[in-house]
Amino acid sequence: MKIAVIGAGYVGLVQAAGLAQLGHEVIAYDIHQRRIATLKKGLSPIYEPGLEECIKRGIEGKRLFFTDRLEEAVFFAPVLFLTVGTPAKSTGEADLSAVFAVAHQIALLAEEEKMLIIKSTVPVGTGDKVEKMMREISPSFPFHVVSNPEFLRQGSALHDFLLPDRIVIGLDDGGLAPLLQEIYKGIPAPILWMDRRSAEMVKYAANVFLATKISFINMMAELCESLSADVEMVSLGMGSDRRIGPHFLKAGIGFGGSCFPKDAFALMHMAREAGVPVPMVEAMMETNDRIPDRIVHRLLSLLPIKARRITLLGLTFKPGTDDLRDSPSLKVISHLAKYPYTLRAYDPLVKEGTPHPALHSVALTSTIQEAIEGTEAILLLTEWPEFKEADWIRLRRLVSHPLFIDGRNCLDEEKMKKAGFQYIRIGKKPTLFLKTEGDPRESTDGKRGVPASRK
Ligand code: UGA
Repeated sequence: MKIAVIGAGYVGLVQAAGLAQLGHEVIAYDIHQRRIATLKKGLSPIYEPGLEECIKRGIEGKRLFFTDRLEEAVFFAPVLFLTVGTPAKSTGEADLSAVFAVAHQIALLAEEEKMLIIKSTVPVGTGDKVEKMMREISPSFPFHVVSNPEFLRQGSALHDFLLPDRIVIGLDDGGLAPLLQEIYKGIPAPILWMDRRSAEMVKYAANVFLATKISFINMMAELCESLSADVEMVSLGMGSDRRIGPHFLKAGIGFGGSCFPKDAFALMHMAREAGVPVPMVEAMMETNDRIPDRIVHRLLSLLPIKARRITLLGLTFKPGTDDLRDSPSLKVISHLAKYPYTLRAYDPLVKEGTPHPALHSVALTSTIQEAIEGTEAILLLTEWPEFKEADWIRLRRLVSHPLFIDGRNCLDEEKMKKAGFQYIRIGKKPTLFLKTEGDPRESTDGKRGVPASRK
């Protein structure tokens, strides 16, 4: 089937490359000419595992094309996916200007019946408004607007496209169903058919619910630290109940990224407009805002008095992406920047010289070794595999003081303690750490700084 994808950003590119992989003939349009020029060369302008290879395969197989001319995309296919951005305004409301502008142009350009499938995350009722507008602009051709929210995770987006748990399709005209079934024919997942407004709401409900699970477990982590329980055991115990499930119950430094915070604010805005109170969502966001500060307070309370150097490991909002948007690591940095510490940071995908206002107070290094040399505290903020695989026994010799806070509970506690670190996990009261005299760097046998048992 011939399909056009309007907006070659993160969602659009994965959608276009994925649809081409399913055997469709796809054209992806974007207003940014440089982006299209890059894509035509088979290069991905964004970092997403497997995406570039998939784009190359599509181009070579003559199933994937790119254009910066909207009319070319509109004439190419009877079915168009709308994947333009809907960033948050300062009020939290989703900015729909790109959605309406593009839909407006499509309605002006179209010379035949078109189906516009909205993948962008849009407030409930947007599909109705877009369809009405398009039909008013061009009453001679029927335009059908469908909602088909995306559930792609950065870092595993292609996998999520090809093997989703479900496909949600919201439409107010059942006659469109066969065409939509044809589009997703190769994907082994149930299609959940529903009305357009409910499909729009599913996207917000799913993201806000997942974010709520994370804030809930982070709140439990705080309680566990105070009451000497272990949040990982709590997570295991509650997550093993099939009604609750084990996913998104990993305590850490809070959630970030371009989706959860944005969608939670947009939901709050929608609720305000509708006059419906949503105190749970507000509390969930407040908890998430508080978590990075809590980890900083914990760090400051454990730092040796004369400490000057702090190392941050991991800056992106999660591993497998170079995305810093709303990353909780940046909140940790801006809090720590108020103190007279020297901050060094290493992230496998954030290179020295990365232009970001929050990174001005940090010296970025190109290796873990450089980042921790002579440091007095290490704060792990993103659970990159490189940190899990590092030889911490050897690395321990490089630090001046072995304080190590694992903000993602991702390293092996026993190994870290054996390596001689004062190793602290989230949601667990630390065992006492007996400091020994002298320069800790002299120790290579892991005997210094042996943790004493709690009792
Ligand atoms: C999220 C959703 O998971 C996708 O289903 C959705 O399509 C996407 O938003 C979107 O709306 O486009 P993503 O933002 O890529 O995907 O990242 P997640 O893997 O969901 O992680 C979000 C944040 O939660 C990260 O900062 C992660 O570290 C944190 N997290 C996740 C936890 O702190 N604990 C957990 O147990 C899970």
